[in-house]
Amino acid sequence: MEVCWPCVLVWGSIITFVIIQIRRWLRAEGDLTLLWAEWRGKKPETELRGKVVWVTGASSGIGEELAFQLAKIGSLLALSARRENELERVKKKCIEVSSLSDKDILILPLDLTDRSSHEAATNTVLKHFGKIDVLVNNGGRSQRSLFVDTSIDVYSAIMELNYLGTISLTKFVLDHMLQRKQGKIVTMSSVMGIMGAPLATGYCASKHALQGFFNSLRPEVAEYPDISIINICPGPVQSQIIQNVFTEDISKVNKNVGDQSHKMATDRCVRLTLVSMANDLKEAWISDQPYLAVCYLWQYAPTWAWWLINRVGKTRIKNFKSGVDADVSYYKKSS
Ligand SMILES: NC(=O)c1ccc[n+]([C@@H]2O[C@H](COP(=O)([O-])OP(=O)(O)OC[C@H]3O[C@@H](n4cnc5c(N)ncnc54)[C@H](OP(=O)(O)O)[C@@H]3O)[C@@H](O)[C@H]2O)c1
Repeated sequence: MEVCWPCVLVWGSIITFVIIQIRRWLRAEGDLTLLWAEWRGKKPETELRGKVVWVTGASSGIGEELAFQLAKIGSLLALSARRENELERVKKKCIEVSSLSDKDILILPLDLTDRSSHEAATNTVLKHFGKIDVLVNNGGRSQRSLFVDTSIDVYSAIMELNYLGTISLTKFVLDHMLQRKQGKIVTMSSVMGIMGAPLATGYCASKHALQGFFNSLRPEVAEYPDISIINICPGPVQSQIIQNVFTEDISKVNKNVGDQSHKMATDRCVRLTLVSMANDLKEAWISDQPYLAVCYLWQYAPTWAWWLINRVGKTRIKNFKSGVDADVSYYKKSS
């Protein structure tokens, strides 16, 4: 049989291209629109320099790193959380790593669950900077407990903080953005706002609520082309989140913190968040594999995704019940 060399060449090129793309996808840390934006899109350094950015939950984890990276870029910052001393620490480091001065960073202690304080807090930021270009709704807490063991007070507290606190602050800031006809509302949702997971029923519910809320708000403000509603959906990221989780009882502290080495580095998650902000992505998935693959599976083949989540979930619940950190022991077992 005669070999058709042009065909071999064409098929060889196609197969090589497909293999390269699969390899790229397997190493991806974000969804396709985000990867494209990082490669070809607008740069945070040009889009966010000089902008007034208000970050909630800025006293640790993702919010703290957001403050550092935004300071380096040259954004003017309002930093909020409950712990003022931690915010002062973050501010000091922001000034060290940037050319910002003391007045470029406003420390504004804020409890997201105290909704009566949100209007005054918004006015304080406006009085200081004269405008708010970006609100980053980042403050929040996760959960580690089974529904059957968990007090309803915990569910109420999670919704009050993650959902109602967030939309309450958004209401006051959005009013100002609508007057200016510009601004970005960036909300730290989660892959748990897209899919479900055991031991986090309340947390998943609160993040689904945020997704539903902002996805419905977006078309309501569509007549303002310069107002963006941006939902960020990270997978597991290194932070204080496990130390701070709600447990089955409102006053019980989580003692089972475990190792964070399998999680995405905080600075990488934040860099991709800034890319999403700069490019006005409506929704961005930021995660290492296998979580990213599960997001796609969830989107396109939910029944298969359920099969997988049930399998992994069984191990997580077993580990949790026997007192070992649910995620880490799963990773150690499977690696
Ligand atoms: N790390 C992850 O794996 C991951 C994945 C997906 C999504 N997220 C989301 O990312 C956001 C940041 O979490 P993180 O991982 O950086 O956790 P973290 O290190 O525990 O930070 C949480 C932040 O929220 C603040 N906060 C908690 N309760 C508050 C309240 N009542 N009022 C105002 N601020 C409050 C905390 O500050 P104070 O205690 O000083 O108030 C802290 O600054 C959360 O919305 C979380 O759901 C995290």
